[in-house]
Amino acid sequence: MSTLRTVVTGTGHYLPKRVVPNSYFEDFIDTSDEWITTRTGIKTRYYAASDETTSSLGLKAAESALAKSGNKPEDIDLVIVATSTSDHTFPSTATQIQSGLGITTGYAFDIQAVCAGFVFALANANALIKAGEASKALVIGAETFSRIMDWEDRTTCILFGDGAGAIVLESDNMVNGSQDRGVLATDLHSDGRFKDILYVDGGVSTTKTTGYLRMKGREVFRHAVSKLVTSTEQVLNKANIKSSEIDWAVPHQANVRIIQSATQKLNIPLDKVIVTLEQHGNTSAASIPISLSVASDKGKFKKGDLILSHAIGGGLCWGSFLLRW
Ligand code: UT7
Repeated sequence: MSTLRTVVTGTGHYLPKRVVPNSYFEDFIDTSDEWITTRTGIKTRYYAASDETTSSLGLKAAESALAKSGNKPEDIDLVIVATSTSDHTFPSTATQIQSGLGITTGYAFDIQAVCAGFVFALANANALIKAGEASKALVIGAETFSRIMDWEDRTTCILFGDGAGAIVLESDNMVNGSQDRGVLATDLHSDGRFKDILYVDGGVSTTKTTGYLRMKGREVFRHAVSKLVTSTEQVLNKANIKSSEIDWAVPHQANVRIIQSATQKLNIPLDKVIVTLEQHGNTSAASIPISLSVASDKGKFKKGDLILSHAIGGGLCWGSFLLRW
């Protein structure tokens, strides 16, 4: 019996030109390269230029993923962008990227699940393709978090960076065997009771301003480790796979200590974990697709490798996916 699966056929990413080292912050807040490095693992992050926007970063990542997948823009019938830093309140960033690619058919929309956004976007693209509502999707995570930083808040402004990553996801018939490629399982959760530990203090319908990111870091850290572990156990159960079978973990890149703690609890050795936050910082919804693209460009993944991703962000929203490359 054959099974319809959604397979990753291309990855791409784009980072702005401006690289910002930890030492940059020492001039205007009470912090140090040593504190940032030891508490987070971050050494540098990228900031978008004034003429760049979330959609312009996302467009470049999408073009790269599309070229690597061997598809033309008109082959794509679904564009989903995970972002919390949309160019405009509306229209969606996804329609701007769709238009930038010259696509005038199919449909495009944004998903807002903050740092878990790419996991939510991939799960939705996978479900829409399997339901026959699309056949080839561009799934993009793109952010300009530098635009929502409070530069006087040392607990947050050092953490985040700008960037975009994209994948092409397309349907393929598999034999329904243990070596089938494609998305094997997804697992999504949210719990709005935790709004106050990670949010932006502005918005269209409240302050009519953009606002700044606010976070109770220690509390988010505690939720992150336990929720990422539980969601990963659930996604492994859904796919009937053991954590020892995972070839690569590509986690959300928020803090190297969260990554180490969660993967250790899951018995995933660190040499199987892709870590890019040292260079990129936390790029929110863009972090997983950037990491997938960076690792793929380095030739880390072979066809058939089992890849796990998990993420948590504001909401709280969290989840995971398992796919065979
Ligand atoms: O991607 C979305 C999800 N977000 C996350 O997953 C982030 C989760 N949280 C974290 O990554 C960590 O909690 C942080 C990196 C944000 C903070 O690290 P921490 O080890 O939890 O530090 P802390 O908040 O417990 O603060 C320890 C001390 C405090 O000083 P006191 O109260 O002990 O005197 C802070 O004021 O470090 C101080 N501190 C800083 N010191 C130098 C906070 N930020 C800084 C800073 N430089 N930038």
